[in-house]
Amino acid sequence: MTSTVITGIGELTTHSPLGRLSDAALVLAEGRVAWVGRSADAPDADVRVDVGGRAVLPGWVDSHTHLVFAGDRTAEFEARMAGQPYTAGGIATTVAATRAADDDALAANLRRLADEALAQGTTTFETKTGYGLTVADELRAARIAGVFTDEVTFLGAHLVPPGTDADSYVALVAGEMLDAVAPHVRWADVFCERGAFDEDQSRTVLTAAARKGLGLRVHGNQLGEGPGVRLAVELGAASVDHCTYLSAADVDALASSATVATLLPACDLSTRQSLPPGRALLDAGATVALAGNCNPGSSYTTSMAFGVTTAVLQMRLTVEEAVYAATKAGAIALRRDDVGHLDVGARADLQVLDAPSVTHLAYRPGVPLTVAVWQRGERVVR
Ligand code: NIG
Repeated sequence: MTSTVITGIGELTTHSPLGRLSDAALVLAEGRVAWVGRSADAPDADVRVDVGGRAVLPGWVDSHTHLVFAGDRTAEFEARMAGQPYTAGGIATTVAATRAADDDALAANLRRLADEALAQGTTTFETKTGYGLTVADELRAARIAGVFTDEVTFLGAHLVPPGTDADSYVALVAGEMLDAVAPHVRWADVFCERGAFDEDQSRTVLTAAARKGLGLRVHGNQLGEGPGVRLAVELGAASVDHCTYLSAADVDALASSATVATLLPACDLSTRQSLPPGRALLDAGATVALAGNCNPGSSYTTSMAFGVTTAVLQMRLTVEEAVYAATKAGAIALRRDDVGHLDVGARADLQVLDAPSVTHLAYRPGVPLTVAVWQRGERVVR
C-alpha cells in the first residue's frame, strides 16, 4: 500500500493535543496516521502532497442519518415554511414510498447521499432503518445499509404504522422484527416522543435490543420535554439524539453520564424548532456531538459543515468545540476510538479546507470549503 506525506499544513487539528498545530505534516501508511509533526521534519513517503498552507482536520463523523428511503417531502416542507407544524406523521409518507421502491433504487439513493456527504468531508456515517416498519422491509433496509457502513441502527420503533395497534406493534418490534434484524445491525434506537413511542414502549424495545447485544441510541426531546433523555441515561445508551428541549434535570443527567448528547441543528431549523442548548450542555460537562440527521422529512442535508457553522454562529460553541463535536464526539457517540481524530494510529480519514484555518467554517458560512478528502489513507476527493 502506498504511503503519503502531506506537508505544508497551515493549521492541523488532530484533537490530541486539543487545539491547532501550525506548519504541520502528516504521514499516512497502511490506512492509518503513521506520523504527525512539523512540516520541516516530515519523513519521506511514496507520495508527497503539499497543501499550500491550507487547514487539515479529521473527516466528519456523522453519527445520525436516515439514508434508506425513497421519495422526498418537498410539499410537506413547503407547508411547514407556510406555517404548518412538523409532526412525526410525515414519516408515514416516506414509509409508503420506501416500501414501494426496489432494492436497487434504495441502494442507488443511499449511494448518491453517501457520495454527496463524502465530497463534503464525511468519512464515517451511521444510518438507520425505520422507513420499512414490517419485518421484511426493516430487514431489507438493514441489509442495504450494511453495504455502505458498519454503523447500522435498527429503528423499527420509528412510528406505529397507521392503522396498527400500538401495543401489538411494540411486541412485533421487540420480538420477531428484532430477531430478524439484529444480526445485521450494531445499534437499536427508538423515537421516544409524543406521537411516536412513550416511555414504557421505548423501554420495552430498548431492553429487548440490549438483551440481543445491540448498543442503544434514543431519539429524545425533539419536539418537547419528555422522558427520552432520562431513559437513555438510565439504560446506558451511547447517545440521545435531538435534545432540543431539555429540563435542568436532563442537562444534569447528561453531564454525569457517558451518554452523548447529539445535537441536530439542521433539523431544528428545518422544522422551525428552537436550537438545542449546546452551550449549557458543554458548560455542565456533557459530551456534545453534532450530526446531520439527513432524511427527507426533517433535515434533508448531507452537510456537516452546516451544523458546525450553526453551532458557532447561533449556539455559541467555539469553533474548536464545534469541530470536535462533529468529529471526535461523533466517534464517541458511536463508541469508536479509531476515527474522528488524527493521532498516530488513527484511521487516515481527513479533509483539507480551501482556507488557512477551521475558523473559516464559521467565518465563511455556506461556502463549500472541503477541497480534498482522504479515507483509510486513500485520496478519494481532489
Ligand atoms: O430524526 N424524529 C424522528 N425521525 C427523524 C425524522 C424522520 C422524518 O420526518 O421522516 C428525525 O428527525
